[in-house]
Amino acid sequence: MTVADRLRERLEGREPRVLLTLGSGLGHLADEVGDAVAVPFAEVGLPTSSVPGHAGRLVAGELGGVAVLVQQGRVHLYEGIDPGQAVACVRAAGAVGVDTFVVTNAAGGLASDFSPGDLMLIDDHLNLTGTTPLVGPEFVDMAAAYDPALRTAAREAAAEVGEDVVEGVYAGLRGPAYETPAEVAMLRTLGADAVGMSTVLEVIAARAAGLRVLGCSVITNVHRPGVTTDHAEVLDVGRDAGPRLAAIVRAVLPRLAGG
Ligand code: HPA
Repeated sequence: MTVADRLRERLEGREPRVLLTLGSGLGHLADEVGDAVAVPFAEVGLPTSSVPGHAGRLVAGELGGVAVLVQQGRVHLYEGIDPGQAVACVRAAGAVGVDTFVVTNAAGGLASDFSPGDLMLIDDHLNLTGTTPLVGPEFVDMAAAYDPALRTAAREAAAEVGEDVVEGVYAGLRGPAYETPAEVAMLRTLGADAVGMSTVLEVIAARAAGLRVLGCSVITNVHRPGVTTDHAEVLDVGRDAGPRLAAIVRAVLPRLAGG
């Protein structure tokens, strides 16, 4: 049996349309899912994370009137896994009928006008992991990987709940070391506004599977001369910003269902 077969069995007839992947400190949104069934990664053959704060389960049910599959925790390349494992959840979701991928993450800000706690809609990415989940001649178009219509929906949802959002380019690196000042300068030169250690491989796999993608980063820290990056602070800011991002997600979900 494949991961998707096992997952389908555990969904007990639920037919999720949206995969919502929650980044560091954002996991509590899974607690709001109604008619919920929780599926620990290991029980359907998905790889589990060794990182504290990444619980590692799927929660299927209903959120904002939409049938969702919430991914609470994810595995990262820096844990020594291969790219296929990093995207196994996205692929399984696509195989059980999900057509929209809402991906969130914690990221470091590079743009000089960003502040910790900002919410950034991802309008494009730089895959700087040096790898890809695609094997063989799978030539996936990435020209509008982050769906412009979904971004518009997210902007409207943010306005509705009174939250400001910025937009920018997310650079995905392997990590786990945070960036040196020289790397920060390089990333700015390359056109990145934020930097993180997830998301880009998942989005490539999602596009390959035909899913529409909406991405949002919580800017947990901002790279500035003389400012160090502390993982505990990253988690704290992510947790504090979580409810604001949750409000946007709640408001955007009903807008995604029509498309
Ligand atoms: N760099 C990489 N990943 C991150 C950061 C950062 O500054 N902040 C949160 N995730």
